[in-house]
Amino acid sequence: MEKKGIKSYVIRKGRMSPAQQAAYRDLKDKWVIPYEEQPFDFSLLFPGLKDVTLEIGFGMGDATHQIAYENPEKAYLGVEVHRPGVGKLLDRIEKRELTNIRIVEHDAFEVVTNMIPEGSLEGIHIFFPDPWPKKKHHKRRLIQEPFATLLAERLKPGGYLYAATDWDDYADQMLEVLTGNTLLENRYERFAEPQSWRPLTNFEEKGLKKSHLIHEVVFVKK
Ligand SMILES: C[S@@+](CC[C@H](N)C(=O)[O-])C[C@H]1O[C@@H](n2cnc3c(N)ncnc32)[C@H](O)[C@@H]1O
Repeated sequence: MEKKGIKSYVIRKGRMSPAQQAAYRDLKDKWVIPYEEQPFDFSLLFPGLKDVTLEIGFGMGDATHQIAYENPEKAYLGVEVHRPGVGKLLDRIEKRELTNIRIVEHDAFEVVTNMIPEGSLEGIHIFFPDPWPKKKHHKRRLIQEPFATLLAERLKPGGYLYAATDWDDYADQMLEVLTGNTLLENRYERFAEPQSWRPLTNFEEKGLKKSHLIHEVVFVKK
């Protein structure tokens, strides 16, 4: 299928720690699903589990492993291109003996387009997406059309899209783009109240150290 999206990431430099390397080597075949242009059958991918939530850009998996640990009956699909992060999450999966996370190490635009069936997701988590603060780079931001519509189409009726950012103008953009999407409805008046279920993430911490404010949005599929 044709690639619809834009490139929202730059592969970050950074060596893998020995633990991340070992986890990647030993556990990749168990929990990382190769990218292919073939929609998932979630009942085969997550036998016995329900309510699949997609997380785009999980970074080091700070929130991913914690949420999956607290919700063992639910399924989590993490998509990330940063290999040290994949190694880190694999290490965490093993240490916590989690069985409800699968990973795709690939561009989320293509994964969502080609691997996620329409109307299949209970939730979508996008925690602190790359802010691309310069105006000429805004086109690289994840949350904009047509990707927002693609995401909305992948949700079940009643499913939710949650996003958080520490960049004010990106927060405004999220609100505007998602409010303008006819498939979605804001669960709040404007920004959401802080969601207690979301653990602190690495990039959130960096933002807080710079005294950035955190904004969150929760939109529900009609
Ligand atoms: C700013 S970091 C935030 C990481 C983590 N969610 C956190 O809060 O600490 C954004 C992450 O999204 C990933 N990312 C950006 N665009 C992506 C894409 N199209 N597909 C997969 N991952 C992507 C980047 O590699 C990066 O790790």
